[in-house]
Amino acid sequence: MDNQIQQLKVEALSRLGEIGLPAELEEFRIKYLGRKGLFPALMKQVAQAVPADRPRLGQLANGVKREVETAYGDRLDTLTLHGEAVSRSTEDLTLPGRSIPLGRLHPVTQIMDEVCGIFEGLGFAVAEGPDVESDFYNFEALNIPPHHPARDMHDTFYVSDSVLLRTHTSPMQIRAMEEKQPPLRMIAPGKVYRCDSDVTHTPMFHQVEGFLVDRGISFADLKGVLSIFIARMFDSRTSIRFRPSFFPFTEPSAEVDIGCVFCGGKGCRVCKQTGWLEILGSGMIDPEVFNKVGYDPEIYSGFAFGLGIERIAMMKYGIDDIRLYYENDLRFLSQF
Ligand code: PHE
Repeated sequence: MDNQIQQLKVEALSRLGEIGLPAELEEFRIKYLGRKGLFPALMKQVAQAVPADRPRLGQLANGVKREVETAYGDRLDTLTLHGEAVSRSTEDLTLPGRSIPLGRLHPVTQIMDEVCGIFEGLGFAVAEGPDVESDFYNFEALNIPPHHPARDMHDTFYVSDSVLLRTHTSPMQIRAMEEKQPPLRMIAPGKVYRCDSDVTHTPMFHQVEGFLVDRGISFADLKGVLSIFIARMFDSRTSIRFRPSFFPFTEPSAEVDIGCVFCGGKGCRVCKQTGWLEILGSGMIDPEVFNKVGYDPEIYSGFAFGLGIERIAMMKYGIDDIRLYYENDLRFLSQF
């Protein structure tokens, strides 16, 4: 009998410990303490014990019953108090909602989309090509033979003697012209790689290549398309200039500058006191390149350009350190 009383106590207390809902607690009360419950049944058994044991067993059973009743009372308090707090918070419609943090596009992606959108609006089709490129497409076919000094400018990451990470998106000119016959009006956005790192250079950055080939294309077409692009990308009042330059795959070549967006052309640290910022390289596609892809330079002519996305984003947003784009600091990124 002693054992039975102890066992009931252990069982009842451990069951109480598991209870988390008011409904379960009520079930517990009925099962153990209710009129037809286990404790009243126990008391009845004690009353029928032999007279010599009755007082001791009675005391023991009463003690256990009181202990379980107290524990039950405590559990009831905590559950209802807690339950009340929970229901109050779900009913308080004046509490501010929990905000869900929203992701957004990286500033480089945003500018990339904007640039591509402007050229698509002018009828350019979009093509993409491999980041790991062969020496042939990246240099050779672009009229940059081995040992050509222009290779020095590219700070190339080599994978092997003839395989490399593309240093510009110009190889896409070759890939597209090999595949299609003119007329051709395309842009090729993507990542490019150069072994270079400082405030205006990162080892990986983004370019958009553009090229147009047809009969009778002249430098005036190049100027027209790029002027429209700059007016849409920046402001129709942005001043632009075409500055003679050199690229092995274009002839003549020009770099395009816009009036410095930081000082308005007066001269500052960013534009190195010149009042101008270079935004892209361009030119008429060299006949030598047409020969490499089997286009007849007597029939066709075309222009090409390549622009750096990070540079354009820096100018648009007034950012003076390119490395900020790639530090993944949300305080910087969430401003765009
Ligand atoms: N590929 C050149 C560069 O990365 C840019 C360019 C593209 C120049 C097309 C002329 C024509 O510097």
